Amino acid sequence: MGEEKNTNAVAGKAPVKPKPPAAKASAPGKPQPVAPAAKAPVQAKPKPSAAKAPAPGKPKPAAPAKTKARLADDPEGGILRKGVYKPKEERADANPFKGSRISAVNAWMQDRFSVVTPILDYLKKKEVPQHRLSFWYYFGGLTLFFFIIQIITGLLLLLYYRPTEAEAFARFVYIQMEVPYGWLIRQVHAWSANLMVLMAFIHMFSTFFMKSYRKPRELMWVSGFVLLLLTLGFGFTGYLLPWNELAFFATQVGTEVPKVAPGGNFLVELLRGGPEVSGETLTRMFAMHVVLLPGLVMLVLSAHLMLVQVLGTSTPIGYKEAGLIKGYEKFFPTFLAKDAIGWMIGFALLIYLAVMFPWEIGVKADPLAAAPQGIKPEWYFWAQFQLLKDFKFEGGELLAIVLFTVGGIVWTLVPFIDTRASREERSPLFTIFGILVLAFMLIETYRVYLDYGW
Ligand code: HEM
Repeated sequence: MGEEKNTNAVAGKAPVKPKPPAAKASAPGKPQPVAPAAKAPVQAKPKPSAAKAPAPGKPKPAAPAKTKARLADDPEGGILRKGVYKPKEERADANPFKGSRISAVNAWMQDRFSVVTPILDYLKKKEVPQHRLSFWYYFGGLTLFFFIIQIITGLLLLLYYRPTEAEAFARFVYIQMEVPYGWLIRQVHAWSANLMVLMAFIHMFSTFFMKSYRKPRELMWVSGFVLLLLTLGFGFTGYLLPWNELAFFATQVGTEVPKVAPGGNFLVELLRGGPEVSGETLTRMFAMHVVLLPGLVMLVLSAHLMLVQVLGTSTPIGYKEAGLIKGYEKFFPTFLAKDAIGWMIGFALLIYLAVMFPWEIGVKADPLAAAPQGIKPEWYFWAQFQLLKDFKFEGGELLAIVLFTVGGIVWTLVPFIDTRASREERSPLFTIFGILVLAFMLIETYRVYLDYGW
């Protein structure tokens, strides 16, 4: 983190913020001198005994009066005095709120959940820098918001869906036509999936151009990129679930891609559950969509969000030195409240899209029928799709796959390659690289749109 003002120093190593000098300790009329340490990142946990300030010049007492009293009450000294482990029942009370004047309900909660108090304190210490690019900090939260919507609506759809070749399509029609508000839940799930992918892309490119991936946030970038791949996996596996014609043939094209790579046939059969797309494929896609991917996302997302809390939010390179940081706002509750406004706007947009632009169910898949014209994947795979189409020469498909794989690896490793950024120096080469990647994706996507329409 270097010189950044990060208020989330790793727990345990966090310096303790000294108590501000009490009003009576300072000379009347004189402005309070701000001790340099008052800006120390982590605030001390409020102690009921902290009201009394030490006399000026005198060293502070080592332990607050309450702890002292507790030690005196506890002839053994408990865990506090000797640093020797004692079972919980033999220890002095660790709840700092015990005995303070709080409501009975609050006291009841504190007695049982005092263990989460330090965690909440920790969250409250996170601060978000304010500058002209702060707007981009909202997109990670928005991605998370649409992911939560996916879990809720996905669970509701699960109540009625059945992942078999015979029933899948009929169940979708049933959900759409018969189940009360089933149409809304299905449309919200479909639209929220698209918005989540869009937000994840915006989030990724904004963190790229702000170089938020630089030391010590490399793993935030890596875990984030894994999350993007998993999110795309959700889109790919979910596409087949309605078992309609479009999804069936698009999945056939999509799952065929690895075939040209050495050992690719194995992967194709693994995905399909056989040589062709069939009911087996549907079962596999379903299992991945509702069990494997959610599990993996939960795991990686927990790491990603934990890192966000521990390392705090980054500032663009050079902003501090140039005095472009307007200030810092508390993550909890200020930034979170602003996040919530973003979520409400996102929710309004989601409902608007779901009601005004419903996704069609199409016609049931017929594996024996010829593939209809204009088969294409979901928009977030259009760039890859177009490249495969462009590389139709001998060995071209393999070359396209190699390009994407190598590109993906380089993209993942950017934080480790961009050593200038990790030294807090501008790295224009990487900015140009990012612009080229973004331009390539946008142009290729637009070309598919021109050929096929929406
Ligand atoms: C399911 C997908 C994702 C979710 C839910 C998610 C969530 C979040 C959240 C809530 C934050 C904190 C707020 C913010 O700075 O926006 C964050 C920060 C961050 N994310 Fe993600 N993220 C996802 C995907 C990604 C991707 C694809 C990348 C890049 C490859 C990425 C890289 C980062 C980085 C570098 C930060 C730190 C930003 C900073 O400190 O300024 N994330 N993420």
